[in-house]
Amino acid sequence: MRRVVSQASPSLALIKYWGKRNSGINIPATTSVAVALDALVTTTEVTESPDEREDSLFVDGERDKSTGLRRFFEAAREAMPDLPRVAARSTNNFPTAAGLASSSSGFAALAAAATALVDHSADQEFVSRLARVGSGSAARAVFGGFTLFRAGAKNAEQAFDPDHWPEFRVVVAAVGSAKKPISSRDAMIRAAQTSPFFSDWIDVNESLVEEATAALASRDLERLGLTMRRSYLAMFSTMFTSVPPVFYWLPKTVEVLRVAEEMRSGGVGVFETMDAGPQVKLVCEARDLGVVVSSLKERVPTAEITESVVGGAVSFAHDDI
Ligand code: PMV
Repeated sequence: MRRVVSQASPSLALIKYWGKRNSGINIPATTSVAVALDALVTTTEVTESPDEREDSLFVDGERDKSTGLRRFFEAAREAMPDLPRVAARSTNNFPTAAGLASSSSGFAALAAAATALVDHSADQEFVSRLARVGSGSAARAVFGGFTLFRAGAKNAEQAFDPDHWPEFRVVVAAVGSAKKPISSRDAMIRAAQTSPFFSDWIDVNESLVEEATAALASRDLERLGLTMRRSYLAMFSTMFTSVPPVFYWLPKTVEVLRVAEEMRSGGVGVFETMDAGPQVKLVCEARDLGVVVSSLKERVPTAEITESVVGGAVSFAHDDI
């Protein structure tokens, strides 16, 4: 029986994907620019299981029965008719579905492992296209370093490799571990259908992408940071103005945002971003990491802090059992 074990790190968007051109198969309506987070890891074991009636995935011991997963296996079989029935188990070293991008690393690891059951040498574009069907952000998590996922594209691509900006650091401040009230999949559909700001959000995206890509190329943290903030705040404006509104923030979220603002006023180069959840991710350079972490620990002692460098691509190992 063939078995593959894969590992992937979540993809943190610096410029956000929010909205779909085709909701069934996750073709993005906006271009996103992202970075892989080395410190957070999803490990997935996929085993060939010909005796089972259906494919299965357990995430941290809980069965995933989502439509996203069903669509993923349908797409996997369409692309790889030889794919055997699979049983998959996945574990995260961080809270699942709490806005830490577990679906990005989860589907990237699952796509890489399922593909490797059939073909050990498939290219990353193929794996990215398959991962995308499970979750849009997963298309990016297949690659290491800094990635680009263009509006309308079927797969993501690498923009800069993991060694491009050695001083780049991300500090994750987790302020809540409860499951989100609404999935990012449903929230972005609601925003597109009901927020009066959604078309402005789409219109501003490409200029933010250009600015962020230029800032990454020249390793200009301030230029990148100011652009990142415009992107996540514009994304949240579409959530706040959805009907009914989508609200992921907690009181401690705002406390972390205030601490970041105060650090910036004091001359520290730190800029935050957020996703579909209450957690805050702060980007800084290695020289400011100490002060960023100690200020957060002092001012928001209950926040769970994780420090990360830029992560690598999805990896896998295979054997027969
Ligand atoms: O692909 P999903 O369903 O994980 O949606 C990702 C949405 C955001 O995390 C908010 C933004 C992004 O680009 O990762």
